[in-house]
Amino acid sequence: MTYQTHAVPDSFLNKWQDTSDVMARIFDVPAGLIMRVHPEKIEVLVSSHGEENPYEACETAPLNSGLYCETVMRTQRILQVPNALNDEDWKTNPDIALNMISYLGVPLIWPDDSVFGTICVLDNKERTFHTQYINLLWEIKKGIESDFKLIRQQEQLIASNTELRIAIEQQRADAQKLTQSNQELNAALATVTQMQAQLLHSEKMAALGSLVAGISHELNTPIGNGLMAASTLQSDVSTFMAHRDQGLALTRSEMQQLGESLTLGTEILMRNLSRAAELVRSFKQIAIDQSSMVRRSFALNTTVSDTLIMLRPLLRQHGRSVEASIPEDIIMDSDPGAIEQVLIILINNALVHAFPNKMQGKISIFAQLTENDEVHLHVSDDGIGIPAPNLSRLFDPFFTTRLGQGGSGLGLHIADNLVSTALHGQILVTSTEGQGACFTLVLPCVAAN
Ligand SMILES: Nc1ncnc2c1ncn2[C@@H]1O[C@H](COP(=O)(O)OP(=O)(O)O)[C@@H](O)[C@H]1O
Ligand SMILES: [Mg+2]
Repeated sequence: MTYQTHAVPDSFLNKWQDTSDVMARIFDVPAGLIMRVHPEKIEVLVSSHGEENPYEACETAPLNSGLYCETVMRTQRILQVPNALNDEDWKTNPDIALNMISYLGVPLIWPDDSVFGTICVLDNKERTFHTQYINLLWEIKKGIESDFKLIRQQEQLIASNTELRIAIEQQRADAQKLTQSNQELNAALATVTQMQAQLLHSEKMAALGSLVAGISHELNTPIGNGLMAASTLQSDVSTFMAHRDQGLALTRSEMQQLGESLTLGTEILMRNLSRAAELVRSFKQIAIDQSSMVRRSFALNTTVSDTLIMLRPLLRQHGRSVEASIPEDIIMDSDPGAIEQVLIILINNALVHAFPNKMQGKISIFAQLTENDEVHLHVSDDGIGIPAPNLSRLFDPFFTTRLGQGGSGLGLHIADNLVSTALHGQILVTSTEGQGACFTLVLPCVAAN
């Protein structure tokens, strides 16, 4: 038989002390004991107070030494020994040495059916206990065993309390971890946002770089041509001066030749210089000065018709008109000057690119207000349209299909720039080759600051 130790809180030991004292008095014995068993020994847990009691609390004895209580625990039954000295089975048991020759004891059972120990009375004279005493001992046993249940419940309560505390602790740690990973996430987000901004910045720088490269390339031709013309003029002039210094007169044909050469040179110089000036003017437009933007409330309808009035001479020159249909109630808070500029670029493009060889066709402008307070302003034509491969490069600086025929490839780049920086919107293009082109400005009614 193997035993385990059951722990008992002090409050119960005090109570059981009283029980043992009362029990010893009622049974009229020197010793009333509550014994507790351990894996290898048996312990006097509670011993009644009294002069003649030879047992003391906390005293222990090894197991397998033939004690009365061991038999009670093994059999888990009541044991009554009226007089050990007359009893073959008991006359050598260790308690006789203490002069305890009579015994009455019952087992104490823990709620999980394991053995706790015993409760017993011992006397130094022969005793045969009446049934009523035996019943009383059983009642005391039951009382103590119900205390065991309380002890166990308390233990379980404490255990689940501890579990609860651990769970709460865990939860707190989890919450802390969550907060931390949230913070880390936020930091990561900030980094990504910053990286995005940097990327955008470097992209802009790259665009600017290619813009500058393009500008110098574009300017190179007219300036180079101009220089060449100027140096021809210079040499013509110095030839003439040399003749004059030597007092030589020019022949009529020499005069004629010089005149033609000077006229041609001046013409080339003028053409190239004005080409350069024109380029510089359009480049200037790219670098929009944000502070010069004029932001105000205006009716889109008015801005569009003002622009068309301004374009009237150009339209007449091309023999075309523009149909505009803008709802009067579209009121915007934005930069009307920027809208004007973009419209000029788009209409000019339609005039220049959409209708080659005097082909028939019309240009129209219309607008609508969306539910989320955006204005969609469409400029469309029914001209030759734009080949699909060109669509993705249309807004790139210097993309033109009229290289050497007056195209700079800057118009749509400027328009795109104006729409995004000044109007905080977007410019989109749709086109099917042979079926015209449609440019759409998606603009917030109230431009962000
Ligand atoms: N309405 C249009 N119809 C057909 N092609 C167009 C139209 N608008 C623009 N494009 C094409 O887009 C190109 C780029 O236009 P833009 O940037 O204004 O430069 P550019 O007018 O100097 O060529 C034009 O060369 C032309 O091929
Ligand atoms: Mg253009």
